[in-house]
Amino acid sequence: MNGMQPAKRIGVLCGGGDCPGLNAVIRAVVKTSILRYGWEVFGSEDSFDGFIQAERLVPMTLDTVRGILPLGGTILGTTNRGNPFRYPEQGEDGELVYIDYSKDVMERFEKMGLEALIVVGGDGTLAIAQRFFEAGLPVIGVPKTIDNDLLATEVTFGFDTALQTATDAIDRIHTTAASHGRVMFIELMGRNAGWIALEAGLAGGADVILIPEIPFYIESICRKLKERKKRGRRFSVVVVAEGAFPNEGERIYQGGGRDHEPLRLGGIASQVAEQVSKDCGVETRVIVLGHLQRGGSPTPFDRILGSRFGVAAVELAARGQFGRMVSLRCGQIDSVWIRDAV
Ligand code: F6P
Repeated sequence: MNGMQPAKRIGVLCGGGDCPGLNAVIRAVVKTSILRYGWEVFGSEDSFDGFIQAERLVPMTLDTVRGILPLGGTILGTTNRGNPFRYPEQGEDGELVYIDYSKDVMERFEKMGLEALIVVGGDGTLAIAQRFFEAGLPVIGVPKTIDNDLLATEVTFGFDTALQTATDAIDRIHTTAASHGRVMFIELMGRNAGWIALEAGLAGGADVILIPEIPFYIESICRKLKERKKRGRRFSVVVVAEGAFPNEGERIYQGGGRDHEPLRLGGIASQVAEQVSKDCGVETRVIVLGHLQRGGSPTPFDRILGSRFGVAAVELAARGQFGRMVSLRCGQIDSVWIRDAV
């Protein structure tokens, strides 16, 4: 390198479910690293896969990140099935086998001359990052999830965009519900947290909001619907968080739950709608908004928060503050130990 100090090299990856704002983080990491510090950046495709399959660790340049700020998803790809400590692969007999690739990840990191790894993820991915940190990898965490369910940051990017999409859906449901005099149920994501349902329900003027934090009673829902009917309201909108469950009942799962695959919630709105229809004699319809909430262009809030997190992660790397996760507290960028966040 012409007698100059070799450039510092860092890695960046996204793990878990995608969410709007990931590209803003990647762009900020790359731009800050290159323009402020003159570092080189490598992106690992599909979570840690770039450290398991050599060709999937790709150089990131200013060109790579040009124009990605308004794009949903992540240009690096992501997966919630790529835990290098227990990596699922098809065995010879077609059965799944689990391989521990953690040493390969550490070796490849070393061989590439990387000096920091920025891991953008939810609690699952950050727990993996923490394990690598404990094994000696200089890791920095960036929290992401539409669910907004991470303790150590007051908000995660992705949430605001999901909220916008969910509120827009409720607004649309309102007009058709009113025209037909129906009770419309709309099921929203959020895993075991009711943030999306609660805030979208409030913003959209829902008549009933069911969240996992408060088990519900069918009778209370029926009482509310009847009250509205008495007041001349022919229709109602019921927002149901996917993780909501009845008092003395259970959460409903759609699938997943094998070793490498998180359990997938879904189906509670249909169940409640059926029960309410029987018990209160009303016509119901159900909409499951699903992954629409994860897609699309990030809101200005998520673009800005993602960018702030990306810059802050590089600054932590520059100061050698490894094992930390960037966070937002009282509107200010801060950081916490990853182990305290997960
Ligand atoms: O954590 C984000 C999230 O979208 C949850 O709200 C939802 O329960 C889950 O991911 C869906 O996961 P998948 O993309 O694996 O279906």
